[in-house]
Amino acid sequence: PSAEVSPDGYQGDGGELHQYAQRAHPVLKTNQGLPVSDNQNSLRANLRGPSLLEDFILREKISHFDHERIPERIVHARGSGAHGYFELSHSLKPYTTAKILTEVGERTPLFARMSTVAGGSGSADTPRDVRGFAIKFYTRQGNWDLVGNNIPVFFIQDAIKFPDLIHAVKMEPDRGFPQAATAHDTFWDFISLTPEAMHMVMWIMSDRTLPRSLRMMEGFGIHSFRLINAAGQSTFVKFHWRPKLGLQSTTWDEACKIAGADPDFHRRDLFEAISTGHFPEWEFSVQLFSQEEADQFPFDHLDATKLIPEELVPLQPVGRLVLDRWPDNFFAETEQIAFCPSHLVPGIDFSNDPLLQGRLFSYLDTQLSRLGSVNFHQIPVNAPQCPFANQQRDGRMQASVPRGRVAYEPSTLEGDSARESFSRGFQTAEVSESGDKGRIRAGSFADHYSQARQFYRSQMCYEQAHIASALVFELSKVGHAHVRQAVVGHLRHIDEELARRVASGLGFVVLPMLPHATEPVRDYPPS
Ligand code: HEM
Repeated sequence: PSAEVSPDGYQGDGGELHQYAQRAHPVLKTNQGLPVSDNQNSLRANLRGPSLLEDFILREKISHFDHERIPERIVHARGSGAHGYFELSHSLKPYTTAKILTEVGERTPLFARMSTVAGGSGSADTPRDVRGFAIKFYTRQGNWDLVGNNIPVFFIQDAIKFPDLIHAVKMEPDRGFPQAATAHDTFWDFISLTPEAMHMVMWIMSDRTLPRSLRMMEGFGIHSFRLINAAGQSTFVKFHWRPKLGLQSTTWDEACKIAGADPDFHRRDLFEAISTGHFPEWEFSVQLFSQEEADQFPFDHLDATKLIPEELVPLQPVGRLVLDRWPDNFFAETEQIAFCPSHLVPGIDFSNDPLLQGRLFSYLDTQLSRLGSVNFHQIPVNAPQCPFANQQRDGRMQASVPRGRVAYEPSTLEGDSARESFSRGFQTAEVSESGDKGRIRAGSFADHYSQARQFYRSQMCYEQAHIASALVFELSKVGHAHVRQAVVGHLRHIDEELARRVASGLGFVVLPMLPHATEPVRDYPPS
């Protein structure tokens, strides 16, 4: 407190510094700044009489408490976050103008949030589930959000299916369970009718969905994005995070025991690591490829159910991420942070991936109701850390106090600096599009089994055994025989031996029929 602060904290009456002003707990006051005389007894009509409506102190306190909860995220409600920084080691200047990827040695502050997908905000940390891996970089050119997962592919190819996927994954609407599990009818019913999910199914049945620690997971941007250089040329890019501690998982039995003994296992681990100076670290790598190279891939890189094998496009390490500070306040930061895949900086652009295109709309839309105001970008954890101004004004919970008369552009009344910056602003890649519009899907999105097979066969024999037993456990919880059979049918398209193992674990006497392959089934790499 300055010398201007008076005994009760009032700034400006020139009073002397009072001992109370220096205490960690200042005088208790109402939201209007009135000192409270008694925080233990409400105002009563007499010694044993009724409480009075007049007691505005009681009403303010209870009312604020009543509204402490905001809606949790529709997905990824359970998450843990931390502050940190990104440091670039190799410049990508030939490919991009994004300063965060061109200035070697520069440290960009960031906030990371890692999450489960299906469970509520109070659910356990260790169910079998995909983990979110979301980073908000506070770059010199504005905020860049890389909102990824710990698995490099996704269940579906088109965002229009996302509400159905999540309704099938989350607790069933009539009974309100299971809270965070894929071992139930609706999930497998949906999956059995969605062959494009089979590659992701192989990954989620592997130990990757049972991370030992948030510090020991990989992260992936999943979609192809574009980098754009100073000449306006664009190069496709995929983003990868690899943990310095290596990729480590628990077994299923360990994950179940931990969920009972310590539901906060991952959050506690991250908190303890950061508070004791064991800062988690990830290597950041890119896969770069041109349109001509993409045209040669035996899959469509715009299909989020496909990855680009490293044999085709090697990973280039370009930097590192370090998490070194636990948030001061969980709600203000980890809970109120709002990631959005459409938050890009100049030099980075989207691709036409139809899953990504839908995501560009969904996040801001949901956050308007989750955080309750068009001004949620002013919350400190969401606000850009570079200078910024625009002509937006007003709106619910407006916390900034813009000065001046001009809240429009162009204008001659107060200069026209906005225009000067346009040439340095965000530019979309110059791409020509042609063809007939429609609710259509390219044939290049039709191969649903090759990469599922490639993943399964790339696993060590004990990892394959874990995948098979996970499938047996999960499908044994499914009440409808036709759903179990349909899933095993899909497995036959992936690997006959895997299908046999699962069928035998489920007690099938004969293998189910192969589902009609509307999709071409071919080996990877194609001959
Ligand atoms: C939240 C990743 C697909 C809608 C999240 C979060 C992550 C994530 C990491 C949590 C962010 C946080 O920690 O606050 C992904 C990935 C996807 C994907 C990697 C596919 C590659 C989709 C799609 C949609 C969608 C297709 C909708 C069309 C949402 C919504 C939230 C969310 C509504 C909640 C956001 C909030 O309340 O702040 N997603 N997601 N996601 N995602 Fe996705």
